[in-house]
Amino acid sequence: MDTAHVESDLVKVLFTEDQIRDKLREMAGRISADYEGEDLLLVGVLKGAVMVMADMARSLDRHVEMDWMAVSSYGSGTKSSGVVRIMKDLDTDISGRNVLIVDEIIDTGLTLSWLVSNLSSRNPKSVAVATLLRKPDALAMPVDVKYVGWDIPDEFVVGYGLDYQERYRNLRDVATLAPHVYS
Ligand code: PRP
Repeated sequence: MDTAHVESDLVKVLFTEDQIRDKLREMAGRISADYEGEDLLLVGVLKGAVMVMADMARSLDRHVEMDWMAVSSYGSGTKSSGVVRIMKDLDTDISGRNVLIVDEIIDTGLTLSWLVSNLSSRNPKSVAVATLLRKPDALAMPVDVKYVGWDIPDEFVVGYGLDYQERYRNLRDVATLAPHVYS
């Protein structure tokens, strides 16, 4: 990838690699305390959550298991509609398990609220959500997000797993995308 070209696609860095690392450590500290002595299964939502999952899991100084789901939300334009299809289901039977869904961003909240209700129907001991970023619309959703890194304005953000047309996921920072890229 041409790095110089990537930089010209960005407006400003919202969170640097160092800030993200520190935030995930802080969240991992809370998660460790809350689940002390309890089993814990992290469920990453592909593909965007790969970076958060990798760094969050390595910040947890305890046993965890990791599993993955891929879901596809249908909607108009860039907003999801809440109609969700499972593209890849869990390999794990979650009955009696403590499940923590790990995602990088909650935008409308529709995907997560569907996912929480889907996983809750499989008789787990508990289901909770951890996300690095949350946009304002998600605050209106009834989904309880236990761990949030940062609440951000409704801007087009990329990097650290977040994509625009599958690009920019590999950026180390989270940055806002320049309108000339998507308009
Ligand atoms: C993103 C993100 C969440 C979802 C949030 O995934 O990882 O799962 O959108 O949107 P919502 O709150 O409006 O429902 P996306 O569908 O972009 O797939 P990706 O992770 O493969 O990029």
